[in-house]
Amino acid sequence: MSTKRSLLLLPGDGIGPEVMRQVRRVIDWYARKRGIEFAVEEGLVGGCSYDAHGTPLTDETMARALAVDAVLLAAVGGPKWDNLGFDKRPEAGLLRLRKEMELFANLRPAKVFDALVDASTLKPDVVRGLDIMIVRELTGGVYFGEPRGITDLPNGERRGVNTQVYDTHEIHRVARVAFELARKRGNKVCSSDKGNVMESGLLWRQEVIALHKAEYQDVELSHMLADAAAMQLVRNPKQFDVIVTDNLFGDILSDEASMLTGSIGMLPSASLGATDANGKRKALYEPVHGSAPDIAGRDLANPIAMFLSFAMALRWSFDLQAEADVLENAVENVLNTGLRTGDIMQPGMAKVSTSVMADSILREMDKVAAA
Ligand code: IPM
Ligand code: MG
Repeated sequence: MSTKRSLLLLPGDGIGPEVMRQVRRVIDWYARKRGIEFAVEEGLVGGCSYDAHGTPLTDETMARALAVDAVLLAAVGGPKWDNLGFDKRPEAGLLRLRKEMELFANLRPAKVFDALVDASTLKPDVVRGLDIMIVRELTGGVYFGEPRGITDLPNGERRGVNTQVYDTHEIHRVARVAFELARKRGNKVCSSDKGNVMESGLLWRQEVIALHKAEYQDVELSHMLADAAAMQLVRNPKQFDVIVTDNLFGDILSDEASMLTGSIGMLPSASLGATDANGKRKALYEPVHGSAPDIAGRDLANPIAMFLSFAMALRWSFDLQAEADVLENAVENVLNTGLRTGDIMQPGMAKVSTSVMADSILREMDKVAAA
């Protein structure tokens, strides 16, 4: 049996393949320059898989995802597949990966690089130095709850149904991830729900409080209704350290948080499962951005979110903290030199393509590693 670290790359659709092509160069860099080798396989997910196999994720690719140390996914979806049924849509491939790998904790950091303070649509003072982490529950709630569906009613109308449902253990395990993370950061957790109108939200709050009382009293815990959290995120985002919330609110709040940083093209994410007896956990890393079909195939996309997602993999799946620093520092240094892809372009900066941005980061990695 090989002890090599294994990765499954799923480039997906739209700009996915072109940002994945660049991160492959980063993976190769670690083998060449640092002697850190990965066994890399590639597969199809999303619309490209539907086109090839009639399903957004084949059983075979699902099995490979379950077998590797970590999955790197770029992006899925596009207008071409918009009219397919829910189970055939590109997004269904991603949801199946999350569900069958049991990736219940989705870590979405929103960190503002100094060089990009002016790229945010918010005032510089509001976002400078911002560093928050959204922990989104990822395998439960309204995304997966039953019953669901669209039915015909006797009166000729139709009814769409989804179910928001959480059990105690689902709340505890994701809240635990948030508390553990907070201990290594600012030691504050804000839990967000709609307990004023939803029983599932009330239970969420009660169970977070119970777990906190039992095991995490050293961490500062607060609660905020999800609508208020959406408002506070743009009013005064620096009040937050770790935010823990359910699947749907986390989807919305993390998109909102991403824009605090200037561009969704900058943000990585990690989706993690439970730690097993050997200390291993299933994991999938992906940029928060989507497939951006409008710019696909033109070498315009920002590869940084994909790079930073791989840095998260180095940290969370392979415990290579210093190696992750090399990549993250190289990204920061290159931004400091004034290079920008279109999404983060500012006056006076140099606009570059996907591949030139990647070239520059790779060169910078040599320098950072040598320093
Ligand atoms: C995300 C995306 C997905 C979600 C889609 C593509 C299914 O918006 O990862 O935030 O809603 O979870
Ligand atoms: Mg989303």
